[in-house]
Amino acid sequence: MKVNFNLKQAGDSVTGRIIGTGSYVPEQIVTNENLAALVDTSDEWIVTRTGIHERRIALEEGTSRMAAEAARRALKNAGVEADELELILMATSSPDYCFPNGACEVQAAIGAKNAVAYDISAACSGFEFALSTVQAFLKAGVYRTALIIGADCLSKLTDWSDRGTCVLFGDGAGAAVIRAEETGIIHSVMGSDGAKGQVLSCMSRSEGNFLNGKKPELGYIFMDGQEVFKFAVKKVPECIRQVLEESGTDINEVKYFVLHQANYRICESVAKRLGQPIEKVPMNIASYGNTSGATVPILLDELNRQGKLNRGDKLVLAGFGGGLTWGAALIEW
Ligand code: ACO
Repeated sequence: MKVNFNLKQAGDSVTGRIIGTGSYVPEQIVTNENLAALVDTSDEWIVTRTGIHERRIALEEGTSRMAAEAARRALKNAGVEADELELILMATSSPDYCFPNGACEVQAAIGAKNAVAYDISAACSGFEFALSTVQAFLKAGVYRTALIIGADCLSKLTDWSDRGTCVLFGDGAGAAVIRAEETGIIHSVMGSDGAKGQVLSCMSRSEGNFLNGKKPELGYIFMDGQEVFKFAVKKVPECIRQVLEESGTDINEVKYFVLHQANYRICESVAKRLGQPIEKVPMNIASYGNTSGATVPILLDELNRQGKLNRGDKLVLAGFGGGLTWGAALIEW
């Protein structure tokens, strides 16, 4: 009996190249002053501790609609039709539904009828996890054209009376189209430490059923900010060094370090620990806050559309977040 594994182009020489990017943020701007009217905080506190000036909050978009719009823009940028997609991975920790998954909703919205679609849950590292997963599929020759999306609508998981968290987050989505080619994603690494998961958590629903008589309730984001800070400034440089060492790449060859936007002080500390100038660590946290799985693809899309990326440029993308999880990828543009 002939077994068809659908191996179209397998081999060590095949990886995936990002051939287009797109992003979407809601129109509604919420400034620090707006939040100071809600909780006991100030523009000065938020700016000096985080670098955030304002964020976008979804009024009615939801996660999947933001993701679908980012996807349409990425497809247009790549010059790829939706029905050419074979795989859609959506990194999100705030899907609109438990099921259908967000990637299936995007598939329906953009008409990508030939794609298999599912979500990846790795909080703010989700986009890097999706990128690594796609790379493995492309290397194995299973698929040739994929769409990855990082999309989060954390405003619906935020306790708007908790000043310790509500000032940090924003909503948005970013996407990238990836095609099997011989250069592009050079190497990627991922890591997890479930034992420390409780420093950054959000319960999807409390346990409640007819036997225990408890009413299920939705949870809100909980964060031990200082623990997350310590984890990030240690783990991010570590995984960046790992991805460079394992690919035999000198750090000075890297043009930009596109890091998860959680706090400008974390970005500064990572640059310092890597011995790299801060100009190589672009930031847009001032305008959008922390959009979780969306920060890296939104920033990448901005760099792309600003014409700052040239063919052959080496970039490191790196994320960290709930799980705890972390991931880094070295790519050639
Ligand atoms: N406005 C005013 N005061 C505040 C606010 C606020 N919004 N939030 C906290 N404070 C107060 C605290 O109550 C505390 O007051 P106290 O000294 O009277 O008890 C004081 O400010 C200091 O609080 P800390 O938590 O120690 O402040 P810190 O300097 O650590 O900054 C921050 C807090 C910004 C959250 C920082 O710890 C941080 O950035 N951590 C990393 C968090 C992060 O990266 N989060 C993203 C999660 S990962 C992901 O992306 C999902």
